[in-house]
Amino acid sequence: MKEVLNFAKKNFNSYVDELKDYLRIPSVSTDPKFKNDVNKCADFVVTKLKDAGMKNVKKIKTEGNPLVYGEWLEAKGKPTILIYGHYDVQPADPYELWDNDPFEPVIKDGKIYARGADDNKGQNLIHIKGVEAYLKVHGELPVNVKFLIEGEEEAGGESIEKFIKDKKNKKLLKCDAVLISDTSMYAPNIPTITYGLRGLAYLEVHVTGPNRDLHSGSFGGAINNPANELARMIAKLHDKRNRITIPGFYDDVLKLTKKEKENFASLKFSDKKMAREYGVRELWGEKGYSTLERLWTRPTLDVNGIYGGYTGEGAKTVLPSKAVAKISMRLVPNQDPKKIARMFKKYIKEIAPKSVKVDVIDLHGGRPALIPLNDPYLQAAARATSKVFGRKTVYTREGGSIPIVVDFMEQLKAPVILMGFGLETDDIHSPNEHFPLNNFERGIYSSIHFFDEVAKMK
Ligand code: BES
Ligand code: ZN
Repeated sequence: MKEVLNFAKKNFNSYVDELKDYLRIPSVSTDPKFKNDVNKCADFVVTKLKDAGMKNVKKIKTEGNPLVYGEWLEAKGKPTILIYGHYDVQPADPYELWDNDPFEPVIKDGKIYARGADDNKGQNLIHIKGVEAYLKVHGELPVNVKFLIEGEEEAGGESIEKFIKDKKNKKLLKCDAVLISDTSMYAPNIPTITYGLRGLAYLEVHVTGPNRDLHSGSFGGAINNPANELARMIAKLHDKRNRITIPGFYDDVLKLTKKEKENFASLKFSDKKMAREYGVRELWGEKGYSTLERLWTRPTLDVNGIYGGYTGEGAKTVLPSKAVAKISMRLVPNQDPKKIARMFKKYIKEIAPKSVKVDVIDLHGGRPALIPLNDPYLQAAARATSKVFGRKTVYTREGGSIPIVVDFMEQLKAPVILMGFGLETDDIHSPNEHFPLNNFERGIYSSIHFFDEVAKMK
């Protein structure tokens, strides 16, 4: 294995060049304008898997964006690891807030800046290069490996969900564990395994008032203003303790165990430091819980965007006919996104006055995940990262969502290992997204160590 690590080290600069090529493809899945680039990016991943020495590499057509599959299954009697990642990225907007072209990667202070650098191109290329180094040095892997890289994670991931639920594909995807690098480390240099993710319910509230925009002087006071009403309704969704007021909302929330509470308390965390980093005077949230508890184990409700009426320069006296809010709720085990969406709709209708019309549209959802910590594959990953980073691996939950995780667990009956190498400060989904190159490098070494740790298991 030493030779493999040395080989990866020697070739690291060329891995960085390949990452740059990957990042130059604007594979934005949420905007149909980029359809061609999304396809080009799938082809790029096909080439990378082939170059790495994977067999049976193919682009799989779906109703949405293609999946990319590849395998190497010649380690007789050894476990099979399925590696998942996504080659699609979030839109780069707002472009003017980037210091460089989001699709022309720039290296500054040991970090690579581009859309998708961390989420998720840098993180999935880690494993492609880990496998490649192994195959180039030894001509074989110590375990069996399959790759499944999707192209619409940032847009809801419907196609992959259908694909893994289809009985015809069960054999193709059969594995002993699923490995995903699409999460963060607890702090720089602290190897981390994530064992919990929040889920999501995403809805849109459309409030319609008069059948056209009106003069706010002639009509204000007689006809209800949908923008005012939307604001009033949104304000009603939290109480004084910053809890969500939707009846039944907390019914299925799994209580934090004493052991988890202790584990969270043992992780160093400073509210002040977080406030400073993100430029707020103090943190905010549900009373009675620590910040880590709120981020990782409590559900939230947030307005992601709101519009209506006049938003241009200067003043325009108008009573708008319509206002819209995009509202998402991060959910925790054992909340069900469909049930929560129904409760949300019912409550919004209840608090809507007769003077406006309210429609609620369901956009998408995803279930929360909780992964047992005693799984031997997860433990192998913890040993691998611990060896590379030279310190004990910590176990965290995170506030973000990867809805496909529970589908993998249920459909493939396999544990899912979240071995992430991003940092919370990498600005994913935001301008100037970046990925520290030393994490890219140590990620590749961790991938190599992981295959070895798994091979030693059986
Ligand atoms: N890599 C993220 C998930 C993530 C973010 C995990 C932060 C841990 C911490 C992933 O690509 C993502 O952004 N997921 C979406 C899912 C949604 C579109 C269903 C999210 O969390 O908003
Ligand atoms: Zn993302």
